[in-house]
Amino acid sequence: MDKKYYIAANWKMNASLSFIDDYFSSLDSNSENSNEMIVCPPDIYLQSVIKTAPKFIKTGAQNISSHDVGAYTGECSGEMLADHFVQYVIIGHSERRQYHQESNEEIKLKIMKAIENGINPILCIGESKKERELDQTFDVINNQIRSVLDSDLLSKDINMLIAYEPIWAIGTGLTATPDMANDVHSFIHSIVSEMTSKSIPIIYGGSMKESNAKELLEMEHIHGGLIGGASLDASEFLNIYNIAEEIRNG
Ligand code: 13P
Repeated sequence: MDKKYYIAANWKMNASLSFIDDYFSSLDSNSENSNEMIVCPPDIYLQSVIKTAPKFIKTGAQNISSHDVGAYTGECSGEMLADHFVQYVIIGHSERRQYHQESNEEIKLKIMKAIENGINPILCIGESKKERELDQTFDVINNQIRSVLDSDLLSKDINMLIAYEPIWAIGTGLTATPDMANDVHSFIHSIVSEMTSKSIPIIYGGSMKESNAKELLEMEHIHGGLIGGASLDASEFLNIYNIAEEIRNG
C-alpha cells in the first residue's frame, strides 16, 4: 500500500533570523519530493519561515491557546495562527504537559480551537520511563487518546496527525526500537479506527535521526517523524525526508 510520509521538524525554543536564512539556503525548492515536510519554529519566527522557506514546506506552530481572545498574557490564538497561514500545530507535547501542566482536558480544547480555525493538529502522546517500566504504556496511551479524541471530532474536515513520542526517548539519544514503536503505533491505530474510518497518520518522535530513520520509517504503522534535535541540522533533516522518499518508492 502506498504510504505518504509526514516528516516534521519541531525546533522547540531554538533558531534565529540568521539560522533561518542558512537553513533554507540549503533546504530549497529543489528539495521537494512526494512526501509532506512540516517545519514548526517558535511563534516569533513563523512569519520568517513562511517567507523564507520554499513553498512546498508546510509551517506549524508549537502551541495554540485554548481561548479565543482576551487577557491571556503570552498566548497565541488559533485565529492569529490562521491569520498567518499556519497549517499545523503541535498540541500536547510532553514538554508542555510537564512544564505548563497541560491536562488532557485542556489539550482537547486546544484541538477544538485548531479545528475551528482550519489548522491541522499534531496530537502528541507518549508514556514516561516509569510508566513503561510498570508496564502501563498501553493504558496511558489509551487514556490520552480517549480523553481527547472522539468520533465527532475526527469527523471534521482536517488532517489530524498523531505523534507517538515516548518521553524517555525525547532528547536522550534513546530510541524506541522499531518493533517497540510499531507495537504502540498499531495499538493507536486500533483505537482510532474505532472512532473513524479515515486513516490518521501516526508519526514517531524521540531521538529520530538520519542513522535510525530508515528502520523506523519502514515499519508498517509508522507514517513519519516528529524530529527535535536532528531537525536543527537542515542537511540531516533533509536526508531523513529523502529516506522517506526512498522507502516510498520501494
Ligand atoms: P528529539 O528528536 O530531540 O528527541 O525530540 C523529539 C521531540 O520531542 C519532537 O517533538
